[in-house]
Amino acid sequence: MLRIDIITVLPELLESPFNHSIVKRARQKGLVEINLIHLRDFATNKHRSVDDYAYGGGAGMVMMIEPIAACINHLKSERPYDEVIYMSPDGELLDQPLSNRLSLQQNLIVLCGHYKGIDERIREHLITKEISIGNYVLSGGELAAAVLCDSIIRLIPGAISDETSALSDSFQDNLVAPPVYTRPADFNGWKVPDILLSGNEKLITEWLHNQSIKRTQERRPNLLKPKDTENSNIQG
Ligand code: ADE
Repeated sequence: MLRIDIITVLPELLESPFNHSIVKRARQKGLVEINLIHLRDFATNKHRSVDDYAYGGGAGMVMMIEPIAACINHLKSERPYDEVIYMSPDGELLDQPLSNRLSLQQNLIVLCGHYKGIDERIREHLITKEISIGNYVLSGGELAAAVLCDSIIRLIPGAISDETSALSDSFQDNLVAPPVYTRPADFNGWKVPDILLSGNEKLITEWLHNQSIKRTQERRPNLLKPKDTENSNIQG
């Protein structure tokens, strides 16, 4: 079973994302355990503070090393962890292969940052992986952690009733998903493609695959290029 321990100063923000739909069912089925750990419970001073002014000045507070180290060390004393992840816009860009790899792990810590960031020594000594969900800055790591965990959990076998369905998602084979339709077959003259009504499974599978390729070429041509060049237009 996959266990994810999320360290946060805002556990309330993460209640809802893990209590609906596929993620909720995966927890109920015992496929994943998610623990929200309130960083303030590990504060070491009498004010229970978790942030302090930055050395060298400048606006914004920095998350202190003691509570985070105490929390991570406490967790590590109870079980080994495969990764200690820090959600950060500086991190490795999240993509489907990274989610696939993480879904195969057993124990993960996910640390959500706030304010100006976390004391650099935490990143140097305690964090094993930094992950960004995109080239933009969020107010904190919580929403990014929710995105990361959702993308991992749906990949666990049994999380989705039709087991093949997560594997046929967009991006699993570096292609975006084909178009999908449901009833009615004709909505005021807007018609579902005939082939999908033909009942010919082989032709339908072929058509869907071709649609995926066509869409990928039109909308996300970078997905068809080798990984190194994929984000070159973004990262400059
Ligand atoms: N924290 C703030 N912005 C973030 C981002 N884009 N990805 C991950 N964590 C973040």
